[in-house]
Amino acid sequence: MAKLISLENENNVYEYASNIIIDAIKNFTPTPQKPYLVLGLPTGSTPIGVYKKIIEAYKNNEISFDNVVTFNMDEYIGLDDNHLQSYHYFMYDNFFKHIDIDLSRVHILNGMAQNLEKECNDYEEKIKSFGGIDIQLGGIGQNAHIAFNEPGTSFDSLTHVQDLTQNTIDANSRFFDDISEVPTKALTIGLKTIYNAKMVLILALGNKKADAIHKATNNPASTDCPASILQTHPNAYFICDKEAC
Ligand code: GLP
Repeated sequence: MAKLISLENENNVYEYASNIIIDAIKNFTPTPQKPYLVLGLPTGSTPIGVYKKIIEAYKNNEISFDNVVTFNMDEYIGLDDNHLQSYHYFMYDNFFKHIDIDLSRVHILNGMAQNLEKECNDYEEKIKSFGGIDIQLGGIGQNAHIAFNEPGTSFDSLTHVQDLTQNTIDANSRFFDDISEVPTKALTIGLKTIYNAKMVLILALGNKKADAIHKATNNPASTDCPASILQTHPNAYFICDKEAC
């Protein structure tokens, strides 16, 4: 059963989520069978505060990323790695360039791949080859999408090509000069990929996310509300500030 964690403010949300990740990195002991802790990582404005706190812990010599592998949730189709709004650029700029992770252990879907289907299948296989995702961090869209799984996406979905809804395109247009520049398609890990993670942390801040959190946690689970798939997950948390609750 997913748990709703209601906290006073956004800093509490950043602290709560970052502490779980920092502790997991600290406590991880590599073995030949499990050499790496596998983190699933998001973009969006919400996780930036969490990244800042993890970077702080790294800079204070509390943690190292020697035994960490990462898989990002999603990427736009058609933006190259250097595009300021690509998720490749976002991750490097907000997180990876500040920590000691070996970039060969960072995985982000390639939205410029010639064969997008193969890119998705290979990504899913790669996640499996590391034994699955240990901690999946994520934000939530106003329509309750997680990663880029829009309403209507099957709960059985694995990594796939996703058409973005107008609601998501409108919400994400704030990062682009003009709405016509916002990609209309993305690659995303599926709802099942997220569900298969051993632990899932979904962050939500502000009243714009209140409706999504309400539907995800109170209404019967339905593909109309992608995040509601987590209701039956044994170790999933919606970590919210007061407004989002
Ligand atoms: C995008 C991302 C999602 C993210 C959502 C919300 O659509 N693909 O992973 O959860 O934005 O972003 P924000 O945290 O900026 O509200």
